[in-house]
Amino acid sequence: MKSQRSIAVLGAGNMGTALALVLARHGRPVNVYCIESDVEDDINRRGRNTKYLRGIGIPANVRAHADIATALRGADTVIVAVPSFAVLEVIGLAVPHLTKGATVAIVTKGLDEKKLLPKVEISRNLLPAPFRTRTFAIGGPAIATELAESKPGAILLAGKDTTSRNRLARLFANGTLKVAVSDDVRGVGLCMSLKNPYAIGLGLCDGLGFPMNTKAFVLTLALEEMGRIVRAAGGDATTITTLAGLGDLVVSGFSSHGRNRTYGERLVKSRTKDPTRLDLITVEGIASTPLALRLSKKHKVRVPLLTAINACLTADARFERPFVEYLKHLSLL
Ligand SMILES: NC(=O)c1ccc[n+]([C@@H]2O[C@H](COP(=O)([O-])OP(=O)(O)OC[C@H]3O[C@@H](n4cnc5c(N)ncnc54)[C@H](O)[C@@H]3O)[C@@H](O)[C@H]2O)c1
Repeated sequence: MKSQRSIAVLGAGNMGTALALVLARHGRPVNVYCIESDVEDDINRRGRNTKYLRGIGIPANVRAHADIATALRGADTVIVAVPSFAVLEVIGLAVPHLTKGATVAIVTKGLDEKKLLPKVEISRNLLPAPFRTRTFAIGGPAIATELAESKPGAILLAGKDTTSRNRLARLFANGTLKVAVSDDVRGVGLCMSLKNPYAIGLGLCDGLGFPMNTKAFVLTLALEEMGRIVRAAGGDATTITTLAGLGDLVVSGFSSHGRNRTYGERLVKSRTKDPTRLDLITVEGIASTPLALRLSKKHKVRVPLLTAINACLTADARFERPFVEYLKHLSLL
């Protein structure tokens, strides 16, 4: 009997574990690269990941491995789900062990500090040439816990090669998860990276006790600014209203799960900007905000809302003040 090709997931956090669960439903071996020995043990011995995805059982065909070569052995599909700060290092480690013909899909958000391009594009360019057209960005409103619990939703796969994109879409799609596709890797990558700074702004609205009308107004301003940056930086103007733009921004800025939104909320009246002291682990918007601002300046895009959010993150005290001042003096004309 022909053995089934495996799927590798690089990263055993909230999203990596959730995507491993989605893909495990096909019954194929899913090998997760995991650098934390307690998490590896939890997955392999107890069928759970208490640290990152509490309360959800993990089936036996999902195995965690501390060795990236083992996780990648024989994998025809590789999902990259590590945080922004680690993605280039992990891609570098993965390259020598990729199976010929494998498809790569990256869910990591964030902008590269030097090139001011989405990390997903920089990651793709680190791969050997034959893998690049088969590398995809996974965008859209994808709260890991909801994916893991099979709640209805949709993601967006962006990449050029239609054959491998359709194959990947079939792998993710199931009765509850729909998969949309796009050619606009730049635009989707930018939306994935820009939504976190604006989600912090939407969190500031919550911390300040603003009603829904005000928050919807700020959301609209955020979407307009994001659209201008995406267009100026080479993305497709229509991507802003897709799952990757509007969809992800709504989820990130309104969901109680959103780490960036929660960070913004907790920043109000706080004495600290340190996310760990605010009970939060990864808040990618903190690093992305100044980079998004640099990107806007590079392309001469006016972004007063983003500028105000960045000023909150650089303030020494009364962090919410620049945001409140911005809204007070806002002119819609
Ligand atoms: N959580 C979500 O709902 C969600 C949704 C869409 C996209 N994403 C994106 O997915 C990426 C991962 O997010 P997450 O929520 O899973 O983060 P997380 O903090 O829950 O988990 C991160 C995981 O990466 C591992 N890791 C860190 N550095 C590593 C390294 N050098 N090598 C190998 N593994 C390493 C950690 O051990 C941990 O298992 C982020 O870019 C995030 O924006 C997350």
